[in-house]
Amino acid sequence: MEQPHKRRVRYSGTHPRNYREKYKELNPDKYHADVEKVIQSGKTPAGMHLPIMVSEILSFLSIQPGQIGYDATLGYGGHTRQMLEQLQGQGHLYATDVDPIELEKTRARLASMGYGPELLTIRRMNFADLDQVAPGVPFDFVLADLGVSSMQIDNPDRGFTYKYDGPLDLRLDPTAGTTAAQRLRELDEEELMALLVENSDEPYAQRIAHSITQVFKRGGSVDTTRQLAALVEQSLSFLPGAERKEAVKKSCQRTFQALRIDVNSEFEALYAFLEKLPTVLKSGGRAAVLTFHSGEDRLVKKAFQQYHRQGVYREISEEVIRPSAQECFQNPRARSTKLRWAVRA
Ligand SMILES: C[S@@+](CC[C@H](N)C(=O)[O-])C[C@H]1O[C@@H](n2cnc3c(N)ncnc32)[C@H](O)[C@@H]1O
Repeated sequence: MEQPHKRRVRYSGTHPRNYREKYKELNPDKYHADVEKVIQSGKTPAGMHLPIMVSEILSFLSIQPGQIGYDATLGYGGHTRQMLEQLQGQGHLYATDVDPIELEKTRARLASMGYGPELLTIRRMNFADLDQVAPGVPFDFVLADLGVSSMQIDNPDRGFTYKYDGPLDLRLDPTAGTTAAQRLRELDEEELMALLVENSDEPYAQRIAHSITQVFKRGGSVDTTRQLAALVEQSLSFLPGAERKEAVKKSCQRTFQALRIDVNSEFEALYAFLEKLPTVLKSGGRAAVLTFHSGEDRLVKKAFQQYHRQGVYREISEEVIRPSAQECFQNPRARSTKLRWAVRA
């Protein structure tokens, strides 16, 4: 039977503005030229993630055909694909991610490029369990690109951004754990303030925690991203107009980040990963970690330095390595990135 023609999503104006209207960006195979134009303009197309510091990572990892590696954070598979190319069809790459939605899309995309199970094993696992990814198989190289992918941020249904309205979820794995909305209901003012300070160094933590908990005391609820953003804005209403807009933007970013770290136990997972990392590396094996905020970088720096002092790592990056100005211009999401590396003794 003939299928009725389905019209594409309509949008007002000359350009699609919200996620669901960006049907071309969400179909990069079909609209390759349009997607390329978006990338060249310094934006990340919807539904895609641009891998960060690829040349710096590849140059450090120095991958040889036949080696065995582990990509702890598969995401869109940008780094995975680059590492697979270096293997030239020989060796094996293991990759993990906790996100069941994006993981299956990436598995299919990489398989369609010829990277099937003989070269690539993808497991839906938390990288905290990196010693269970390939037990008894030591790795020549490991990469962890922490945080969230652009696909997760851009999809309003996942609740990672205050820019669009959506459920206040923020879970990397929406099939498990507690949503951010639920966490807000569980915390008292003191606990919420501590969470904002510890996870994001939020300077207005007390005011924001007070505004949020007052809503619950009055019998209200905070269930959506825009509701939370409005409360942050209200908490900063005492600031003079000129500085308020920028301050609200930064406090919204930090508040969402602090909640995301909490609902996904991100520090606990990173701590476990860093502690076990030397046990999964071969002698001379190389590990690189990309971080996106100071809390993460502090943990990586400390763990690398401690193991270096103990002789577990032969060498570590002396200073943090940052993306080039050109990369930051082409991909603004790279601006906060820090790279550190270590070589197993
Ligand atoms: C920045 S993205 C990785 C992007 C990827 N390198 C690429 O080039 O497409 C981070 C990914 O790590 C995943 N992730 C975060 N914490 C994780 C954890 N503890 N275990 C496994 N995956 C995790 C997220 O779900 C997300 O897909």
